[in-house]
Amino acid sequence: MTTSGADQVTHTARAHSFNAVAAQYADHRPTYPPALFDAIEDLTGRPLAGSRVADVGAGTGMATARLLERGAHVVAVEPGEGMAGEFRRRLPGTPVVRGDGDALPLAAGSADLITYAQSWHWTDPARSVPEALRVLRPGGALALWWNTSADDVPWIAEASARAGRHFGRDFSREKNDIDAATADPSGRLDFTRRTVRWSRRVPVDAHLANIGSHSLFLVQSPDRTAAFLAEERRHVLGAFPDGIVEETYDVVLLLASKRPAA
Ligand SMILES: C[S@@+](CC[C@H](N)C(=O)[O-])C[C@H]1O[C@@H](n2cnc3c(N)ncnc32)[C@H](O)[C@@H]1O
Repeated sequence: MTTSGADQVTHTARAHSFNAVAAQYADHRPTYPPALFDAIEDLTGRPLAGSRVADVGAGTGMATARLLERGAHVVAVEPGEGMAGEFRRRLPGTPVVRGDGDALPLAAGSADLITYAQSWHWTDPARSVPEALRVLRPGGALALWWNTSADDVPWIAEASARAGRHFGRDFSREKNDIDAATADPSGRLDFTRRTVRWSRRVPVDAHLANIGSHSLFLVQSPDRTAAFLAEERRHVLGAFPDGIVEETYDVVLLLASKRPAA
């Protein structure tokens, strides 16, 4: 994919945007359901307990915390100062190394599993794929996942359409874009896809804070974001008059085991 200079500036600004709102991110973004980790164990054929996992783009540690609960030995990698600082506050004692997926600060063959929770799309696959292959042991696995909104739920489809009009983008294509993001330049990763549906109920303020922690909202003017969220509150309260919002997600998981070089 070729990107213009302006697109690259926006991409970089968005990739760094989370640092300014790390606590809001950690408090309000959805976590990941147990069934996701069951699916990872199923696809790798190996328990997470005792596995050496590198969680890349770990942010504030939302996925890291779930991996630790499963008994994995996790080293986190995170480029952003704000996100890494929040990680240390929330998961003291768990190692987090500053670095990114395009140049992993990790030894060759040191990981059974590399995870990217909502972060692979910030990397350059021409660099992050070879880096993952270098750091994985033979037979190790790369797991990428994203919480995507369940657009077959009518109120969520309407909300996605409103956000799409606001940004001039088609968010219904989000899941196809995920497939495009995993084009493998090496030919050594053959991704299997699983989708896990789950939901959570949160107060409307938490729902709006979750929306407002997304990079597109963070890089536009605060006034535009505030105006969008005020209007969104009105719509969402129409669907959930008691102020408790049921968010439904499809976690899209892509997992590939490292094949030997040809
Ligand atoms: C949407 S957040 C996901 C954080 C965390 N994994 C989670 O599940 O909540 C994306 C993270 O990717 C990080 N990031 C940005 N560019 C990256 C890169 N090139 N490689 C790895 N991570 C990157 C950001 O700093 C941010 O913490």
